[in-house]
Amino acid sequence: MTRRVLVTGGSRGIGRAIASRFVDDGCEVVLTGRGEEAERTAQEIGARALPLDLSDRATISHLAERVGELDVLVNNAGGFVGRPPSGAPDVEAIADHWERTLRVNLVGPALVLAMLEPGLRDGGAVVSIGSIGAEYAGNPYSVAKAAVQAWSAGAAERLGARGITANAIAPGYVAGTNLWGGPVAEERHASLVERTLVGRAGSPADIAELAFFLCSPGARHITGQTIHVNGGAFLTR
Ligand SMILES: NC(=O)c1ccc[n+]([C@@H]2O[C@H](COP(=O)([O-])OP(=O)(O)OC[C@H]3O[C@@H](n4cnc5c(N)ncnc54)[C@H](OP(=O)(O)O)[C@@H]3O)[C@@H](O)[C@H]2O)c1
Repeated sequence: MTRRVLVTGGSRGIGRAIASRFVDDGCEVVLTGRGEEAERTAQEIGARALPLDLSDRATISHLAERVGELDVLVNNAGGFVGRPPSGAPDVEAIADHWERTLRVNLVGPALVLAMLEPGLRDGGAVVSIGSIGAEYAGNPYSVAKAAVQAWSAGAAERLGARGITANAIAPGYVAGTNLWGGPVAEERHASLVERTLVGRAGSPADIAELAFFLCSPGARHITGQTIHVNGGAFLTR
């Protein structure tokens, strides 16, 4: 049976690579995004686009009706939400930055899974994208990613009885995406690459291959994990 897959934030970058990987396997793929880029990408790769803003609860609440049953959910959409406030501490500005960041990177994915969970087919898979930043950084984005990784493990506990796996992928630096709102400055790129053991930045395909594997028959005993893809920039035991 053709697998049905939803990839949030599939308009570009890592999400686009993940969506393409599943399309190449013959899956029926729905990708989400907030604008025309999602529509364009869907046409280019042979998927269906669905408008979704992770901070828009009303849209999320109707997601299940628009998506139907699924075998795979990839919670990929996310990123920085504006710049952190600087200058004299302004409680409203600081609260706003925290709340918007958590809404998009943590609450959004949690609501998406909550709405789609009843329609997930037994034996399916959920993959959520965390970040290497969860391991050492304390800014709102990294804290949200640490929480996503914890929440993903909790989802695994709940879904295991139905044979559904839930794992997080924590990418290191992945070049060629729009996470920083444009190309990364040369010096910053070089210092991020220098932190790796393999001497290169990650690519969206590096993440897509793992996401695809985690949803494959060979990965049915892997669940509740956070798996790092960072070229050795952060080591685990
Ligand atoms: N690149 C890295 O080095 C890196 C490292 C660690 C983790 N990550 C994570 O990897 C994931 C993909 O990021 P990327 O690097 O591929 O960045 P990207 O090129 O900016 O792609 C981000 C995707 O998320 C969607 N998105 C962003 N904010 C959204 C919102 N409020 N509601 C709905 N969709 C939203 C975007 O769609 P539209 O703009 O079309 O709506 C886009 O498809 C993110 O969760 C990011 O935090 C990236």
